Amino acid sequence: MAEDQSPPAGPDLALGVAADDFKNDMLLGHVGKEDVLLVRAGSEFFAIDAHCSHYHGPLADGLVVGATVRCPWHHACFDLRTGEAVRAPALSPLSVWMVEQESGRIFVRRKLDQPKAAKTVPADAPRRIVIVGGGAAGFAAAEMLRREGYSGQITMLSNDTAAPVDRPNLSKDYLAGNAPEDWLPLRPDSFYADFAINLQLAANVTAIDVKAAQVVLADGKSVPYDRLLLATGAEPVRLPMPGADQPHVHTLRTLADCRAIIENAKSAKRAVVIGASFIGLEAAAALRARDIEVHVVAPEQRPMERILGPDMGEFVRALHEEHGVIFHLGDTVTAIDGKRATLKSGGTLEADLVVVGVGVRPRLTLAEQAGLAIDRGVTVNAHLETSASGIYAAGDIARWPDPHSRENIRVEHWVVAERQGQTAARNMLGAREVFDAVPFFWSQHYDVPINYVGHAEKWDEIAVDGDIKGRDCILRYKKGGRVLAVASIYRDVESLKAELAMEKA
Ligand SMILES: Cc1cc2nc3c(=O)[nH]c(=O)nc-3n(C[C@H](O)[C@H](O)[C@H](O)COP(=O)(O)OP(=O)(O)OC[C@H]3O[C@@H](n4cnc5c(N)ncnc54)[C@H](O)[C@@H]3O)c2cc1C
Ligand code: FES
Repeated sequence: MAEDQSPPAGPDLALGVAADDFKNDMLLGHVGKEDVLLVRAGSEFFAIDAHCSHYHGPLADGLVVGATVRCPWHHACFDLRTGEAVRAPALSPLSVWMVEQESGRIFVRRKLDQPKAAKTVPADAPRRIVIVGGGAAGFAAAEMLRREGYSGQITMLSNDTAAPVDRPNLSKDYLAGNAPEDWLPLRPDSFYADFAINLQLAANVTAIDVKAAQVVLADGKSVPYDRLLLATGAEPVRLPMPGADQPHVHTLRTLADCRAIIENAKSAKRAVVIGASFIGLEAAAALRARDIEVHVVAPEQRPMERILGPDMGEFVRALHEEHGVIFHLGDTVTAIDGKRATLKSGGTLEADLVVVGVGVRPRLTLAEQAGLAIDRGVTVNAHLETSASGIYAAGDIARWPDPHSRENIRVEHWVVAERQGQTAARNMLGAREVFDAVPFFWSQHYDVPINYVGHAEKWDEIAVDGDIKGRDCILRYKKGGRVLAVASIYRDVESLKAELAMEKA
């Protein structure tokens, strides 16, 4: 992300601050030109870089939990002793600084050498780990395997032509033209060679031979494994309607999809977005930023009502209308003839560019063919292991026993996929860690971020605290009096506290 050009914040910690003046958990200061966060956790003081390594979120506005700090924006978590990003979406560590106490004053003057958490790989760790998928879960797993000190073979097979990218950005800043393409790769190309991760792109896995413990590629080659992680993600639902196969009709999942939309957008004056999903509406916002007239056609009466409820749905609609989006709700597109989209209600819309955002479908073919247990997703246990021993699944394809909702759930969220990839990585090394992270997602519409913690498919009450229209609110989705999920706008600490409460419940 871009370098922060703002002047250093708060007091100069090299000159020291009085320990008695330290009223809160955190004090934002600086050492030279670098922002540093001084943290009191119990009786200990820590100092750490003040900005999150994900998107530069201000950790001073986050939450201290034990000897960790959580980021207010997308709930990454950093170990205050080591700086390690212990929870995605941040993956890179932060620098930690030496804290010295002298005569009742606290001084921070220099960085510590990056302390390494002591990690040992069991002697019977598998020799060869194969990961199918180069997305959120697959990448996070490979990165975590090396972080855990694993030195065996890692082969990552992806049928994408691009190395792992920051997929959420594809419908936000990058599509809007506000982020350069070099922000997108999760790691530079050199990372894979440096960490001996055998990333094979355009490598389509067509079968898993469970008995022989190998995966088979489209070109006939096979790759043997001792442990296998399936992280094949989801693919956009394509509408079976006349004209959906034209070049100006797009779905959005990959970097190539996004580049095609951007190319089309360069000459487009008017776009139709089919579907008021998160991706559809984020794409609508991005196209508005490019000054394209945008029409959104969707069958529901309020966008996102099914996930966020009627009031938040109404807010999202009004927000997009404020930015010039024209909704055609309670309607669908039945055909696209050249540039003319026909609506079920009888009208037509002219469009140089169409984005179809009507949901995704988990890619289950491999798992089905291999005979793994399937239940509207690949069934995994609490350790993310499938019904076949040694084969794990993570991300958009996995349905896991979620201890918080007490249901078997499958979600399509970036942070969940990354965290599952990390847990699967440790479990492939024998950790037997239970995946118990509270689901989290965020969505960005213009300058309004919506954060969501937990999982509520149904609720009997939504308790609204604050003012949704005023963009300062937290909504609690309750069933039988129990809070299942929380959505918020600019109530970041409360969202973090809600996550913590759900972890403890
Ligand atoms: C445009 C966009 C914006 C999003 N924004 C957000 C957001 O703001 N917040 C949020 O929480 N979530 C967001 N999401 C959802 C999030 O990106 C997904 O939940 C996440 O990427 C899922 O990770 P995954 O690893 O399961 O799958 P993916 O990231 O889709 O990766 C799957 C990988 O598997 C590969 N693959 C599939 N089949 C095969 C095969 N047979 N052989 C070899 N390789 C194969 C694919 O090429 C790909 O590399 C967004 C998604 C999109 C598309
Ligand atoms: S900016 Fe910190 S988690 Fe995204």
